[in-house]
Amino acid sequence: MLDLKRFGQEQLLQFWTEISAESKKKLESQIDSIDFAYLNELAAELVLQKKNIELPKELLPPKVFPAIPDSPDLSKLYEEAVAHGKNLLRGGKVAVLTVAGGQGSRLGYDGPKGKFPISPIRNKPLFQYFAEKIKRASEKYSHKFLWFIMTSESNDAETRRFFEENNYFGLSQDTVIFFVQGMMPAIDYSGKIILEAKDSIALSPNGHGGTLLALAKSGALAKMRKNSVEFISYFQVDNPLVSPLDPLFIGLHSLEKSEMSSRSLSKTGPNEKLGNFCVSDGKLCIIEYSDMPSELTEKRRSDGRLLFEAGSPAIHVFSVAFIERLTQDGKLKLPWHRADKKVPFIDAAGNLVKPEKTNAVKLETFIFDALPFAENTLILEARREDEFSPVKNPDGVDSIVSCRRMMVEKDASMLEKVGVKIPRDAKSSPLCKVEISPLSFLDEEDLALKFRKSSCPILEAGKEYYFE
Ligand code: UTP
Repeated sequence: MLDLKRFGQEQLLQFWTEISAESKKKLESQIDSIDFAYLNELAAELVLQKKNIELPKELLPPKVFPAIPDSPDLSKLYEEAVAHGKNLLRGGKVAVLTVAGGQGSRLGYDGPKGKFPISPIRNKPLFQYFAEKIKRASEKYSHKFLWFIMTSESNDAETRRFFEENNYFGLSQDTVIFFVQGMMPAIDYSGKIILEAKDSIALSPNGHGGTLLALAKSGALAKMRKNSVEFISYFQVDNPLVSPLDPLFIGLHSLEKSEMSSRSLSKTGPNEKLGNFCVSDGKLCIIEYSDMPSELTEKRRSDGRLLFEAGSPAIHVFSVAFIERLTQDGKLKLPWHRADKKVPFIDAAGNLVKPEKTNAVKLETFIFDALPFAENTLILEARREDEFSPVKNPDGVDSIVSCRRMMVEKDASMLEKVGVKIPRDAKSSPLCKVEISPLSFLDEEDLALKFRKSSCPILEAGKEYYFE
């Protein structure tokens, strides 16, 4: 066993004589997994002092490819990109990656967030909704896409069980690959690692930045290479609106020789809680909303638009070679971010205490901090209503309620585009509930095929319609 005194962390063993042999083993293996010298360094820098975020001196707004092409040249480029993207999809050059290791604390749902039933009529869980999109894409492009799902130690077993119990939602079991991200101990304000039980350290997932190293360490990158995968389409488990395999985005990434590409949204206002795309020293980066001073977020252009209007919905395409390069020596030093949390702990008398105020720091890395390491990057704007409605909270902004509403809106618009008549109120919201099964209709192209053959229905207010 390590000499914990040397690192000032001997409190981890304060109940050692009381715990069983099995508990000793468990605690020992947690202790062995921690690099104490490094952790103490981080604690000194980020916990014992609240380091002010050092923003680069000059931040500029980035160049963004608009969602709708605004010139004939751009229209041509997008057409080429779509065709190229479809070829890459057909050629099996793309894999899907979903990060699902988070704790979903704001949602307050008991279980992995991907199990949350989200679709407005059938209540399909998030994982099922993505699985159906991927299945339909596999038919469309005649290729069984590999789907990598990142879990954490806390939700890995339950996530795998959910897929098994549901027969992988119709996907081949060997195409769904789970891999587990790293954990970080919670540190109290005096720099000590917290025990959440007499035999257990308070550990939490190390942030979605942990994805890159976990991909390398788990053998997922090697598996991609073995299967000739060159590009990874990345999104978060709580955004059912996303297109998991978008030919335009993937094609543009490849044509422009980008190593890491991102979708952007036009922010709803200066305070929207989205990372801000900025350029610093010629490099694209994302600055968290909480780190961006208001004099920058509120700055406007002469036409009234926000100067930093591009926010990040956390949708990216990565080149496999880029992640290989970043992780080649088994290390990846992304910056750590501090989050103050209420972490339950065991007091000296051995009682569990649930603090009422924040008492500890959790450290996380963010995947978007990889952007400045890329030689080439690009941003493609997305239409929010098409691509982004995260389930973060039970109600209010970015909630179950707003997400289901946007799912209905998106499906209603797609149906209207192919000629289905949808009743709408004065504010143009649909007066009936609709849900399109992604298993049958991935996009407008699929819907158009159906309604070209049969006549277009006229939907009635107050009713529910499921299209499959
Ligand atoms: P969030 O930052 O929204 O965190 O994660 P969360 O854990 O889902 O929710 P809160 O903040 O506790 O309420 C955005 C995405 O990144 C994944 C999440 O699963 C989600 O898809 N994520 C986050 C990870 O995979 N690992 C992490 O360590 C953190």
